[in-house]
Amino acid sequence: NVREKVALIGSGNWGTVISKIIGNNVMRYKEFHQEVKMWVFEEKVGGRNLTELINEKHENVKYLPGFPIPENVKALPDLSEVVRDATVLVFCIPHQFVPKTCDQLKGKINPKAKAISLVKGFETDETGIRPMSHAISESLNIPVCSLSGANIANEIAEEHFSETTIGYNNLEEGELFKKLFETKYFRVGIIDDVVGVQLCGALKNVIAIGAGFVDGLKLGENAKAAIIRIGFFEMKQFMKKFYGGIKDETFFESCGIADVIATCYGGRNRKVAEKFVTTGKSFDQLEEELLNGQKLQGTLTVKEIHRVLSSKGINDEFKLFTTIYRIAFEGLPPKSIVENID
Ligand code: NAD
Ligand code: 13P
Repeated sequence: NVREKVALIGSGNWGTVISKIIGNNVMRYKEFHQEVKMWVFEEKVGGRNLTELINEKHENVKYLPGFPIPENVKALPDLSEVVRDATVLVFCIPHQFVPKTCDQLKGKINPKAKAISLVKGFETDETGIRPMSHAISESLNIPVCSLSGANIANEIAEEHFSETTIGYNNLEEGELFKKLFETKYFRVGIIDDVVGVQLCGALKNVIAIGAGFVDGLKLGENAKAAIIRIGFFEMKQFMKKFYGGIKDETFFESCGIADVIATCYGGRNRKVAEKFVTTGKSFDQLEEELLNGQKLQGTLTVKEIHRVLSSKGINDEFKLFTTIYRIAFEGLPPKSIVENID
């Protein structure tokens, strides 16, 4: 029996928590080789390379300070070295970096490898949206599953209980990935809906920006619940409009309603959107000032959705999403969040 060799592509806030989870799990199961190589987008921290600091301290001092990384996780700055011989690729980078990263991987990976995307975002053009699993799969010619859920990284680093959802292409892959990710505190549900799982993960970030506006305006919990309800409805409409085959059940897994709630209360998108209202600064400036290198996904997704809706002339069918865009990028007063919706 050949053991699966796991490569983790990404080492931000969530990527680092995942390195802990899969670093421990590959030691538990005979299906896996016991080392995990982790790609770090190299940068200097206090004058030293982040990869060196991670390998020396077994801690990601920049993106997840204070939590140990298992010693069998090896941080590397060179993508080709990370994926060499790997049979399982775990993608956990902000979605805007996926195309370039895949370009760098072309011709470097094992053609029999399989992948799973933990990325929350998608690509768009005038004709519609392309889920990250498809972007990766088409670029590298390998099968790609998805994982998404109500998963605020720091809480999982603390080993507080949470659930997540894996979308699989075939059951065998789904079960292998469940083994790789599940722990006592991180419970994995699996469903054969690769696209549905990840699109929920991308779109809930948009709702969280709306929730952050409501928090910034101090409109209270009823208003926030209304934004969550309407946002959930538009998320469902949007997904069904752009993709056939999405399952209704997916919306009620951790990747669906649960992640909408978690992100609208505890996520970075919510937090920065609240500050957008209270400070009047731009999202780019706030991301820079507040997140120490971590990236917002929701602001890009808001723009990407707007582009697609505009090119199809259907903004009116998505009043909340459109209003969130106009507040964030066209100077519409934040109060419109509750005035422009039916
Ligand atoms: P992060 O936002 O904490 O960190 C940003 C990462 O991007 C860093 O590792 C940085 O080195 C890297 N980076 C910067 N420039 C880059 C470039 N040009 N090319 C490649 N990488 C570059 O990262 P994260 O929280 O691990 O997020 C990764 C994905 O996981 C996102 O799609 C996010 O939505 C999703 N996610 C995050 C959480 C969370 O709570 N943090 C939870 C679930 C899912
Ligand atoms: P934020 O990127 O808004 O922090 O959301 C994290 C997340 O995806 C929780 O499931």
